This record gives sequence, structure tokens and C-alpha cells, in this order.
Amino acid sequence: MAIYRAQKNKPQKPRSPVLILTASILVISILYLLSSFNSTNGSSSNTQKRLKQFVTFNAKNTVYDKYLYWGNRIDCPGKHCGSCEGLGHQESSLRCALEEALFLNRTFVMPSRMCINPIHNKKGILHQANNESLDDGWAASSCAMDSLYDLKLISKIVPVILDNSEMWSQILSTSLKMGSKGVAHVAGVTRSDLKERSQYSNIFLINRTASPLSWFMECKDRNNRSAIMLPYSFLPSMASKKLQDAADKIKLDLGDYDAIHVRRGDKIKTRKDRHGVDRSLHPHLDRDTRAEFILCRISKWVPAGRTLFIASNERTPGFFSPLSARFKIAYASNYSNIIDPLIENNYQLFMLERLILMGAKKFIRTFKEDENDLSLTDDPKKNTKVWQIPVYTKDGEEC
Ligand SMILES: *[C@@H]1O[C@H](CO)[C@@H](O)[C@H](O)[C@H]1NC(C)=O
Ligand SMILES: *[C@@H]1O[C@H](CO)[C@@H](O)[C@H](O)[C@H]1NC(C)=O
Ligand SMILES: *[C@@H]1O[C@H](CO)[C@@H](O)[C@H](O)[C@H]1NC(C)=O
Ligand SMILES: *[C@@H]1O[C@H](CO)[C@@H](O)[C@H](O)[C@H]1NC(C)=O
Ligand SMILES: *[C@@H]1O[C@H](CO)[C@@H](O)[C@H](O)[C@H]1NC(C)=O
Repeated sequence: MAIYRAQKNKPQKPRSPVLILTASILVISILYLLSSFNSTNGSSSNTQKRLKQFVTFNAKNTVYDKYLYWGNRIDCPGKHCGSCEGLGHQESSLRCALEEALFLNRTFVMPSRMCINPIHNKKGILHQANNESLDDGWAASSCAMDSLYDLKLISKIVPVILDNSEMWSQILSTSLKMGSKGVAHVAGVTRSDLKERSQYSNIFLINRTASPLSWFMECKDRNNRSAIMLPYSFLPSMASKKLQDAADKIKLDLGDYDAIHVRRGDKIKTRKDRHGVDRSLHPHLDRDTRAEFILCRISKWVPAGRTLFIASNERTPGFFSPLSARFKIAYASNYSNIIDPLIENNYQLFMLERLILMGAKKFIRTFKEDENDLSLTDDPKKNTKVWQIPVYTKDGEEC
């Protein structure tokens, strides 16, 4: 059974009578369930045993808890339901939901699977040198959340349970039995109202419908650094144990290394204006992410002879080879003996690569995201409006 609970270090505060009542109802209803299991299905001893463990466990720890549910799929219902977005987008949304749970002191009911967008799931990146497999994609349209994240680790900060767990079905049936204190279905209610207004704060289960644009729209302050409760690095550093272990092995082999993340793919796409001229949202990106420009730009940060790990969605074989004139280059594909048996989709691969990038002595991003970041380009990452003519000439800066 998937129950992930954090041990609270702080002494427990005295609980309100409502909570104690809630708790008793929960215990009673579980005991009731347990006994009905006994009488209807005496042979199901495993289920019985697990239920017993659940009761004991909860009597000690989580029975007072309240729960927060945002739906069984990240960004659903809404415009990303049909297609589903890339890992970064979905992580922003998940982080927003987790922050709300943290803010409300509620256990978060986590979708048990993450949807995988086929356009973000091309296998090519793994085998840059091998032309044959370029068009292979992974078949899966979703993957188990616990194949990406270590939910026990997450629960040390924000308690989570999965929405396919037995505990979640207990919570649902309990919430129904509790009447008006059981569940509140809300949409468009602010976080602080959920915390402060008693018709929400005392409810056992809050079933929240988030913005149909994206879950993360609920975190309007997400660009205000001091309003962010969980850092951007939170989910990346919560990678599942098998991803963490694989990254550790690769990092050990790389030794002392620097790294670059080279975003091309969708980011360099152009469209024609009404005069048939190509335009791009990132006019210098195609240029700045080519090997000779990278070589020029990073030489001031990465001394010759260093090991340079390259993570990229560029799939042209040999695209980065010119960099090997100055650096000892390595890709995820150099470690296919570790990666191939383990990785089932690009989201896992991306998480693994991210752990390797995070372990570099110097890490150079594609775009500057933070004041102190080193970056390959000076184009801003966020530009959704101004389409400019791509630039391929040098700016005059010498190498
Ligand atoms: C949530 O818990 C923190 C500490 O664990 C406490 O300071 C805060 O008052 C709690 N908030 C609510 C709404 O219970
Ligand atoms: C990769 O395969 C395509 C089609 O099979 C071929 O046209 C292309 O030249 C190959 N590229 C390299 C670098 O081998
Ligand atoms: C949550 O609320 C939505 C919208 O009201 C509803 O469709 C859904 O069935 C509810 N889910 C649960 C688990 O109560
Ligand atoms: C940023 O968030 C903090 C903490 O919630 C808040 O006090 C501050 O007013 C916010 N700043 C802006 C510019 O919204
Ligand atoms: C990684 O593989 C490339 C060929 O794809 C090779 O040139 C390079 O030396 C390898 N790097 C390491 C660190 O083994």
C-alpha cells in the first residue's frame, strides 16, 4: 500500500474537537470496513493484514490529517488534458499543487501517473551516434509517478499519497460518510480562503478544480521569488532512487566535470511572416547553440581539457563533435549500458540527465534563468509575442 508519511519533528499541537471527531469517525469507519472485509471475504488475508497495518499506522500518525485533491491527472481538466505537456511544464503545475498542500497543512493526493506527450518522447537523444534508431519513440503514453519521484522523500516536506492507493479509497468512502464535514468541491477559491474560512479549513477533504489553463496558474505569484514555498530545484532533486543511483554511477565515472544543457528542438523553430521571411521567438538561439558558437562562448568558463557533459534535444549525429577539439565530451549515450536497461521514457531520461547536470562543477544553461546563471545565449527564455528574424552572424566578439 502506498502510504507516504513524514515523521513530524515538532511537538503536536492540541487538536480541536472537530478534528478529534473526524479522527474517531475515520477510525470507526475503517474498523467497520475491516470487519465487513472479515465477514464477506475471510480468505483475503493479505488485504486484511494491510488494512490492519493501515489502522495501526494511522492511529499513531495520520489519522488527524486532512487531504487536498486536485484531480487524477496533472493539468486536468483543462486545455492540456488531451495532449499533456512536457515534464518541466507538468512539474511547475505539480509544484504549485504541493505548495498549496504545504500552505494548508494537508496531505496531497498525488496523481499516480504522469501523462507523456509523444512529441517529448523521441528516443533519438539516447543514440546520437546511431542513425538507425532516430525515429524510434517510446510507446508509453504515461508513466507511474513513483518511477519518476521518490515519494517518501517528497513526503518529508509535503506528505503525499497516491490516488491509486488503498488509503485514497478509504478517504473517499470516509468523506462520504462524514456528511457536510466530509468533502468540499471547490473551484476558484483562493488559497488563503481555503486556509482561513471555516467552511473549508475544517473539511476533511478538499476537492479542488484548478485553472483550466494549467494548474500552475493557481500560483499567480510564481515569479515572485519570496512567495515561492518550494524552490525550483525541489522536484528535480526528488528523483526516484533508481534514477538517483544511475546518476550517481555516471557522475562517478565522469569524475570532475562541467556540463551544458543545449536546448534546440522546439525552441529553434521558425515561422514565416506574410512576406515569407522566417521569424523566431529566440532569434540568436539557433546560432548560439551551434558547436562553434558554444566553443567560443564557454571557453572563458571551461578550461581546455575538461570533461564536458552535454545534454541536448539536438538529434543530428556529430552535431557537437567540434567541441571535442577542446574538451573531453560525454553524452548520456556514452552510458547506454547503465541507461538502456533502466529508462523507459524521455521524462525519466530528462530527470536523469538533470541530476548529472546538477552535479557539474560549472553548469551552463541554454537560457539565463537566474541572475548568477551562465548561459549559452542572451535571448530571454520567455518570449511569446515578438517574432524576430534569426541572426547567424557573429556579434563581433572575438574568441
Ligand atoms: C501548519 O503547520 C505549521 C507548522 O507545522 C504551523 O506553523 C501553521 O500554523 C500550520 N497552519 C495551519 C493552517 O494549520
Ligand atoms: C541518417 O539516415 C538518413 C536516412 O536513412 C540518411 O539520409 C542520412 O544521411 C544519415 N545520416 C548520417 C549522418 O549517417
Ligand atoms: C471533484 O470535483 C469535480 C468537479 O466538481 C467532480 O467532477 C469530481 O468527481 C470530484 N472528485 C472527487 C474525488 O470528489
Ligand atoms: C512577494 O511575496 C511576498 C510573500 O508572500 C509578499 O510579501 C510580497 O508582497 C510579494 N511581492 C510582490 C511584488 O508581489
Ligand atoms: C562518448 O562517446 C563519443 C562518441 O559518441 C566519444 O567521442 C567520446 O569520447 C565518449 N566520451 C567518453 C567520456 O567516453
